[in-house]
Amino acid sequence: MKFRSRHDAWGNLVKLLHWLTAIFILAAVAIILNAQSIDLSIDTENRRLIFRTGIYRHEAFGILALAAVAVRMVWRLFDKRPDLPATMGRWEIAASSLTHGALYVLAVAACMLGWYQVSSNGGLVHVFGWTGLPTLTSKDEHIHEVVAFWHEWVSWIFVGLIAFHALAALKHHLIDRDRVLRSMLPFSR
Ligand code: HEM
Repeated sequence: MKFRSRHDAWGNLVKLLHWLTAIFILAAVAIILNAQSIDLSIDTENRRLIFRTGIYRHEAFGILALAAVAVRMVWRLFDKRPDLPATMGRWEIAASSLTHGALYVLAVAACMLGWYQVSSNGGLVHVFGWTGLPTLTSKDEHIHEVVAFWHEWVSWIFVGLIAFHALAALKHHLIDRDRVLRSMLPFSR
């Protein structure tokens, strides 16, 4: 079990942050889809409470994902990446670097837009009851609408790219039979 990455495997800190990010993002997406499926036209206090709780949990997992990505981006400046399999072509290496870069950019963009959305609606971001994060802007209905639109679209593009990235990892494992997926799995050497 190594803290730093080596030539043949990602280090344990990268692995931990990578899988925590994946869990936080999938939780944020699942929770918001569940909250949005609640029919609020049948206006009961119970439904509104479940909806609000869903929104707060979505915010919490989004902020946790942002924090995990931020730590990981800093750590990657000091850590080397494992060697790529010699069988990977130039276009595949380029596609993989481009996808990883885009995943970082979209993760930060989706989470920051969500935070900005809450601020422009005059609210505070809720992280499991803690509301100490600053507001990013003052209340403005027009900005709130624009930011809400972009938060949703950037997030869907992000989810699409995560699916592509996960399928690429499976292709490496099942078709190319190299160690790309194993190099990121917990407990693999
Ligand atoms: C949910 C299923 C996921 C699977 C199966 C998966 C799989 C993998 C694998 C196998 C690698 C190693 C690739 C290599 O060595 O070139 C990797 C790296 C990476 N993954 Fe994922 N991943 C998933 C989710 C995510 C999510 C949600 C993000 C969002 C930020 C993400 C971002 C990255 C990045 C940026 C790298 C490059 C390594 C780094 O800079 O830390 N992955 N992933």
